[in-house]
Amino acid sequence: MKVIFPGSFDPVTKGHLNVIYRAANLFDTVVVGVLINQEKPALFTTQEKIEMIEELMYDYSNVTVKLFSGLLVDFVREEKADAVVRGIRNEEDFLYERQLSLLNHSLYPEMEEIFLFTDKNYSYVSSSFAREVASYGGDVSGMVTENVARRLQEKFR
Ligand code: PNS
Repeated sequence: MKVIFPGSFDPVTKGHLNVIYRAANLFDTVVVGVLINQEKPALFTTQEKIEMIEELMYDYSNVTVKLFSGLLVDFVREEKADAVVRGIRNEEDFLYERQLSLLNHSLYPEMEEIFLFTDKNYSYVSSSFAREVASYGGDVSGMVTENVARRLQEKFR
């Protein structure tokens, strides 16, 4: 089974990694889909986002990282993926994912989704929290890996 794990990954967090690694153990192929979103200004360039994810995937030969722009449903069709994987941290995520799912199903009714509850250690983790804490020089080691923390520090130096 081939699945897509889509997101903005600005930057990739330990919460994302937890879902990617679990998906890699469950499914034959995982495509991490990095959204190129021209509307939303990002801290990291698309190239940096990809590098950060790829350097954490050495042990997972069934994970590839790809860019996509436009609609997720079109990317899923192009990739001929069987399903989309999304992580859920809390009730807020659940409500958001439900809306996203309804919208995506209105565009592509056959699309399947698989939701994984994020590990409890990462339920407070988000890319935006990591960016904010790093911008004030705080410790982000609970939220992101060492390499990503270093890159965050460099951005705010
Ligand atoms: O990093 P995020 O915010 O969890 O990722 C959200 C993402 C990328 C899955 C969502 O914004 C998305 O699918 N965007 C692509 C454009 C699209 O399909 N829009 C319609 C649904 S919002």
